[in-house]
Amino acid sequence: MKINNTYRFLLLPLAGSLLVAACGNSQNEAAVDGSAAKAKVAHNAAYTDDGHLITPDGWREWIYIGTPVTPNGLNGGAAPFPEVHSVYIDPTSWEHWKETGTFREGTMLAKELSMILSEGAYEDGSTSQVSGRGYFQSDVFSGLEFAIKDSTRYPDEPGNWAYYSTGHAPGIEYPATMTAEPAQSCNTCHEVNASDDWVFMQFYPVLKEAKGGS
Ligand code: HEC
Repeated sequence: MKINNTYRFLLLPLAGSLLVAACGNSQNEAAVDGSAAKAKVAHNAAYTDDGHLITPDGWREWIYIGTPVTPNGLNGGAAPFPEVHSVYIDPTSWEHWKETGTFREGTMLAKELSMILSEGAYEDGSTSQVSGRGYFQSDVFSGLEFAIKDSTRYPDEPGNWAYYSTGHAPGIEYPATMTAEPAQSCNTCHEVNASDDWVFMQFYPVLKEAKGGS
């Protein structure tokens, strides 16, 4: 529908109050998306008074750093992280990374999962498309996770990284706030297997290439 300027003027305050109403709802209420339609792009993490992470805005407009793909069809029908993993870093931390080659206090990394296209799939879940046979991202998102480094807020987390997850399910709606996961659920695997400061640098060519410092 095309809305002329007069109507837009009338509708804006209404949209604003609906947004406020949505944000005031309980933690399970879906209230965020990462799309360009969002008004802001978060550069720093924000928290509720009782210590929950307010799901950062606009992560799809952060700097993209890499895309591991683990199709269900190659993982016994149920990949631990289904299926396409799009990883981003917040813009301020990206600038810091390019200068110093380190993750600043407050670094936020996002990993958003999405399902692959399944129509006409072979047994391994792949499909043939214009560019060849392979795995193609669908428009069904299946989870959102954040890793946040902060020695003041997370003095007891190994590496001072805390981890947040919506869980994984096709079409999952994202909550307005998130609760930190216990270290053994997330942090331990990162500590042992990730190649640079708990981060899986080995899979992020964009970060590797831009690493600053000496
Ligand atoms: C079994 C090992 C393992 C566990 C457990 C694990 N991860 Fe990860 N995580 C990975 C790997 C491998 C990557 C690299 C990207 C990819 O392949 O998805 C990653 C990447 C990430 C990233 C992107 C930034 C980075 O550090 O590389 C976030 C955010 C993340 N994981 C959050 C979580 C959360 C939240 C949990 C707990 C609910 C968790 N992870 C548990 C293996 C793990």
